[in-house]
Amino acid sequence: MEKYVHDIVIVGAGLAGLRAAVAAAEFGEKLDIAVISKLHPIRSHSVCAQGGTAAVMREKDSFDLHAWDTVKGADFLADQDVVEFFVRQAPKEIVKMEHWGCPWSRTPDGKIDQRPFGGHTYPRACFAADMTGFHEMHALYGKAITYDNVRFYDEWFATSLIVEDNSAVGLTAIELKTGEIHVFQAKSVIMATGGHERIYEFTTFSHTTTGDGMAMAYRAGAPLMDMEFVQFHPTGLVPSGVLITEGARGEGGYLINVNGERFLKRYAPEKMELAPRDVISRAEQTEILEGRAFTSPYGPYIALDLRHLGEEKINERLPLIRDVAIKLGGVDPVKEPIPIRPAAHYSMGGIKANIKTETPIRGLYAAGECSCLSVHGANRLGTNSTAECLVFGAVAGEEAAKHATSTSFHEFSQEKVLAEEKRVFDGILGSEGSERVPQLRDEMRRLMNTKVWIFRKGDDLESALKEVRELEKRFKNIKVEDKGRAFNTGFTAALQLDFMLDLAEVTIMCALARTESRGAHSRLDYPKRDDEKWLVHTLAYYTAEGPRLEYVPVTITKWQPTARKY
Ligand code: FUM
Repeated sequence: MEKYVHDIVIVGAGLAGLRAAVAAAEFGEKLDIAVISKLHPIRSHSVCAQGGTAAVMREKDSFDLHAWDTVKGADFLADQDVVEFFVRQAPKEIVKMEHWGCPWSRTPDGKIDQRPFGGHTYPRACFAADMTGFHEMHALYGKAITYDNVRFYDEWFATSLIVEDNSAVGLTAIELKTGEIHVFQAKSVIMATGGHERIYEFTTFSHTTTGDGMAMAYRAGAPLMDMEFVQFHPTGLVPSGVLITEGARGEGGYLINVNGERFLKRYAPEKMELAPRDVISRAEQTEILEGRAFTSPYGPYIALDLRHLGEEKINERLPLIRDVAIKLGGVDPVKEPIPIRPAAHYSMGGIKANIKTETPIRGLYAAGECSCLSVHGANRLGTNSTAECLVFGAVAGEEAAKHATSTSFHEFSQEKVLAEEKRVFDGILGSEGSERVPQLRDEMRRLMNTKVWIFRKGDDLESALKEVRELEKRFKNIKVEDKGRAFNTGFTAALQLDFMLDLAEVTIMCALARTESRGAHSRLDYPKRDDEKWLVHTLAYYTAEGPRLEYVPVTITKWQPTARKY
């Protein structure tokens, strides 16, 4: 086992992690920064972001309007001080990305173009066709590798965060090429590992986004906040779940049921296809449950009709979507509607962090989807996520750099490291039980898909909690067939499932406890929003017996909760 020492260790190399690396490197060239990623950075899930990045870029738009849209979209659970800061910073990030080489789509007069997105009252999604994340990632990675003081550890899997006296002091990670575990010592650690939607069966998420950072921070004592709020994106391609961007509706696409009806007129008559995602996903699910969906061997679906946009516009604005629909859906959107249905897409919850991305553990910062600051409250608006990664990735890099500059390395006990080595190699790789990891993983995902989906009920959630705890017990009796160390994907899958089971349990517990409907959390047994009791954030703390829940108030600055209609 080797020991690597860096001032700052960033876990995750998607948009938030890379932006943090650039900000920290710019803060001081003497700072020594490491970026650990279980994938090559350019394979991070951020490259899958399609439709755009929200920012106020025109005089007719305003910070207050963007903030209000975000707060209303969040069903008033967002912390408004954080939202106000966020909307002011976002345009600066768009310009930075431009300077670093992001090829934003342009208006005929050469301005950065912007398209409409759900819940935004002004077209404020800056985009690069329908491959926004891909281009942002290439620009950022190109920038990050120009710094001599940033070292990348590609294909290293972080397994645990080391905390001493409530300070983050390092972590353990397995080098996937050798399968050896090593230890990193750091003054500041930034978690930027993305969301956990792979706990679901039907999801837009990459197979690799398994919530590792959330689980590591949770196990080390950091609370997870608002984990009951999972976003379902209205247009996951059937049957794979691959994202079909909301940009397709931003460009004018229609959603249609089996009767050829634009059914949103009954659910969101003003905004129609550009209502927020929670509203549209519930509408689609209702159409499905009430028998007005199309049928297929892969289950019911709704149609996304782009035909009226014409081939030229589809090729210019939505080339990836056309390609994906042809290759993975078997339909050419120029000629036929695309089969879609809601898919788990985003976690509004994550590691609790404040406006400076500080978590309750000193020296531990969180940015991007693994964090909860809370910009998005109970429901995120499309394109606010890539913007959040850039804005708060930069904040995390700077804050971690300040902390690293003003503190010294903290020693940590070898016992913790040895215990972690034993956990992963004896407890997981060496386990000689009879349960298979893919089987348990599929059962967890099916369970989340059936009992913790768009519409939730207390008895379903109670039975889901029992079942996930049963899966946790069965996990102790797994067998990883391949005992080799180098690039052992079976072993990695087991480590990931271990993290995901914790996160599934937290998600279910938080959903069961919240006896109201707000944003993406829709309880059939508690159909109303209850501001008197539930205008609060949920905190989940790790205990050996399961999550312990606490509640903290929401920060309101300008906007009192009102009825939310679209
Ligand atoms: O539909 C999309 O392009 C997704 C955007 C987002 O989640 O922000």
